Amino acid sequence: MAPSHMGLSLTTTSLAFQLNVTVQTLIDVFTVTGIVHYGTAGSSNDSMSFGDVSVPKLVAYTGAWTWKWVSLWKKFFWLPVDSAWFKIAEQLKVKLERCNNTFCLPTTPKVVYGLKGSSADMFLDNAEYRKFLFREFGVSTVDEESAAVVMTTTSPGIPVIVFRGVSDWLEGNQHGRQQA
Ligand SMILES: *[C@@H]1O[C@H](CO)[C@@H](O)[C@H](O)[C@H]1NC(C)=O
Ligand SMILES: *[C@@H]1O[C@H](CO)[C@@H](O)[C@H](O)[C@H]1NC(C)=O
Ligand SMILES: *[C@@H]1O[C@H](CO)[C@@H](O)[C@H](O)[C@H]1NC(C)=O
Repeated sequence: MAPSHMGLSLTTTSLAFQLNVTVQTLIDVFTVTGIVHYGTAGSSNDSMSFGDVSVPKLVAYTGAWTWKWVSLWKKFFWLPVDSAWFKIAEQLKVKLERCNNTFCLPTTPKVVYGLKGSSADMFLDNAEYRKFLFREFGVSTVDEESAAVVMTTTSPGIPVIVFRGVSDWLEGNQHGRQQA
């Protein structure tokens, strides 16, 4: 990575071969100091499938406790990614590969820009919770870190952009659990 970049790679799994292309392109394009945050996410949007990459415009922390209190919490605190970086990312026209040397996805994955992502500290084997997030708040991907990353970089004014590759296996796969 170029020395002027601080990359945050928190979870990269089998999607690394795709995310790598995207992130590498970004690193080649951007010369400003900032954070390119990437990793995997669970999909809460039926139109987002395994292998798709989401570049959200807004992320929110949707911790499990907010679910319980939804009647009181109809509004999440949406955190925007850096708008200039988002615009550049949108113009990249990255094409994702359907296959690597050994494995092919059922359909060619896509990069989707401008959706809403969310982070929760506990969650993902909970299909109802994902449905709820999509239905009530239009959240397309759920992960464990991006809201925290955006939150901590927004106040010091460091540009940040988020890429999340949809994976059916999140942190749960470490315990041999496959997520629906
Ligand atoms: C191809 O992708 C599969 C599934 O994502 C992964 O398990 C495998 O290691 C990859 N192979 C190479 C050569 O990158
Ligand atoms: C992407 O993969 C290439 C070749 O494997 C490697 O040189 C490069 O450092 C990777 N980039 C990132 C951001 O991981
Ligand atoms: C769900 O994902 C699709 C892209 O796969 C997108 O076009 C659509 O806007 C998303 N839905 C919402 C509510 O964001």
